[in-house]
Amino acid sequence: MTAPKKLFIRTYGCQMNVYDSERMAESLGGQGYVETQRAEEADMILLNTCHIREKAAEKVYSELGRLKPLKAANPDLKIGVAGCVAQAEGEEIMRRQPAVDLVVGPQSYHRLPEMEQSLREGKKALNTDFPQEDKFEVLKSRPKARRAPSAFLTVQEGCDKFCAFCVVPYTRGAEVSRPVSRILEEARNLTERGVREITLLGQNVNAYHGDGSDGVEQTLAGLIWRLNGIDGLERIRYTTSHPNDMHDDLIAAHAECDKLMPYLHLPVQSGSDRILKRMNRSHTAESYLRLIEKIRAARPDILMSGDFIVGFPEETETDFQATLDLISEVNYGYAYSFKYSSRPGTPAAERAQVDPAEADDRLQRIQALITKQQQEIQADMVGRDLNVLVEKPGREAGQMVGKSEYLHAVHIENSDAAVGDMVRVRIVEAKRNSLSAVSR
Ligand code: 5AD
Ligand code: SF4
Repeated sequence: MTAPKKLFIRTYGCQMNVYDSERMAESLGGQGYVETQRAEEADMILLNTCHIREKAAEKVYSELGRLKPLKAANPDLKIGVAGCVAQAEGEEIMRRQPAVDLVVGPQSYHRLPEMEQSLREGKKALNTDFPQEDKFEVLKSRPKARRAPSAFLTVQEGCDKFCAFCVVPYTRGAEVSRPVSRILEEARNLTERGVREITLLGQNVNAYHGDGSDGVEQTLAGLIWRLNGIDGLERIRYTTSHPNDMHDDLIAAHAECDKLMPYLHLPVQSGSDRILKRMNRSHTAESYLRLIEKIRAARPDILMSGDFIVGFPEETETDFQATLDLISEVNYGYAYSFKYSSRPGTPAAERAQVDPAEADDRLQRIQALITKQQQEIQADMVGRDLNVLVEKPGREAGQMVGKSEYLHAVHIENSDAAVGDMVRVRIVEAKRNSLSAVSR
């Protein structure tokens, strides 16, 4: 028997890439690869790339430059680029960096085994198609190995919204939903392997409209209700959502579905209607605020999370102030803010850009406000009793670490809980990025 070959995957970007990397590792497992954490000993290195912000492609090229010496040391080493940079750059990657053997776009991962076969035959392999077949079906996980208590599950991919700044509709393609039956099957399989919490993933997850087994399309709420019936599964989350697809049945699920967690990531991007319009967001600041009112009426304790872009082309100080006002009104438990970065091929790339120093200054101001809100919300957790899903031992003796309903990281002191347990705790202290708790 030959020794298994070693696969090293470096994952950039979003949770969907994390999920995809797991699927790629499983798929190449069928070709005799086992994963390693050390690039130096790998027989294949895959960079699973992200193209959403900053000089993504340039960063990938410099990383490839750093990997080149490994190839000189081991001529059998194969180097591959996957993900959204692979989709956007395609063949150009192999032209600019001849050390690259394989380029595979996000819709072609199920083709990896045959691509790997080409590599064995000494050929290079490139696939950035958007094929019709169900890649998830082909990538279905084989092994029955235990899994960590919290897992991602992709239910929807791609986006039809075409926000003026965003590459996702180009790199991930049009919106596609997986059928309900396949998702339930995967969720049951995960639960049998020890998973207690599933986060449903999609670039625009609340636009989910997958085939139900009865031939009727299901909404995300319908899917969540079905998942709610799986024994052993204790928590359901979903991300990322668009305000325009936040329909009443999903809001009602937040009130009524016991396994759906009180946390919602609902990006608004800006608080200025003028900028929202230029972003092609098709909602206003006011309609977003009314939506949140409705969601909070259904689930008063829900913790809101969002994304913001500062320095979008043509953004004035007045527009930026409107964003700060909106943040103050919503009160976010978590929020992520980004400086606008021009993405070639998107409509906003052609427009008058904001002075970079001004954009930096706005980023600092928005982050200061967001941090203050986050910390106040964390501090408000002190004295409360929460449920924590235990994920791993902490750094100190007797300490276990997990997540609360609201997705805060919680350190439980002197705990005898095991990984995968759901424990009732009292929060005793709010630290910078986590909460401390004692068992109840
Ligand atoms: N520049 C800056 N931020 C961006 N995002 C998406 N595209 C860009 C861009 N070109 C942000 C949005 C989105 C998050 C995932 O990344 O806020 O919600
Ligand atoms: Fe990009 Fe999200 Fe807008 Fe779709 S909805 S284009 S993924 S920012």
